[in-house]
Amino acid sequence: MTNLLFIGDVFASPGRGMVARHLKDIIAAENIHLSIANVENAAGGFGVTPQLADEMFDLGLDVLTTGNHVWDKREIYDYFTNHPRLLRPANYPEGLAGAGVVVVQAHNGVDCAVINLQGRVYMPHTDCPFRKADKLLTELPVHVKVRFVDFHAEVSSEKVAMGWYLDGRVSAMVGTHTHVPTADTRILPEGTAYQTDAGMTGPYNGVIGVDKRIILERFLTQMPVRMEAARHGAELHGVVVEVDDTTGRAAAVRRIALT
Ligand code: FE2
Repeated sequence: MTNLLFIGDVFASPGRGMVARHLKDIIAAENIHLSIANVENAAGGFGVTPQLADEMFDLGLDVLTTGNHVWDKREIYDYFTNHPRLLRPANYPEGLAGAGVVVVQAHNGVDCAVINLQGRVYMPHTDCPFRKADKLLTELPVHVKVRFVDFHAEVSSEKVAMGWYLDGRVSAMVGTHTHVPTADTRILPEGTAYQTDAGMTGPYNGVIGVDKRIILERFLTQMPVRMEAARHGAELHGVVVEVDDTTGRAAAVRRIALT
């Protein structure tokens, strides 16, 4: 068995603090072999810097995924060249920095693939994530049975559809981006562990990570505002998946939440 940990969108310093405080304990308690986290909001809610990506790797994360905010900090563009374990959604146009797939050896010696895709509904216009998934999966070495997908998308329907599309072809698909954890954790009939959204690892006393006064002002006035991360109510949300590494099928999946 290979045990995967996926931590939902790490948001600003409250989110990073939760990873720093809890990651090692989770890895030990759950016998985790590969730790993955979405860090597209690590830098104050907007993108990730080389320094923060280094910090996340140093804390014990093995692979970092992202999403639409990955391009917010220009300094990260060059970082991709020497850090293939930092992913960006695979279905951005060809030629951009970085990649959306990586094969890494988990701590039990099993090769695992991590894939990062992004939805297209209420999101930046990208290539089709479904067809991109097909292409990436056909290109993976056949011995790589353990396959995790972070599908960064806004609407539940697109994520549910992707879950069905990938069922039996990946070990797990977990959604990110909405910052609200969903309670639909399950194993689909062909063996893919699924959850529509992992939820945020960050400050819940705000509006999906941002200071609630700022967001309320925007809703009430429709005027532009300067976003600032909320500070309180930090929680860590993630998903633990137990994968049969001979078949790639998920044997168990469950949500974790720490306050
Ligand atoms: Fe996002």
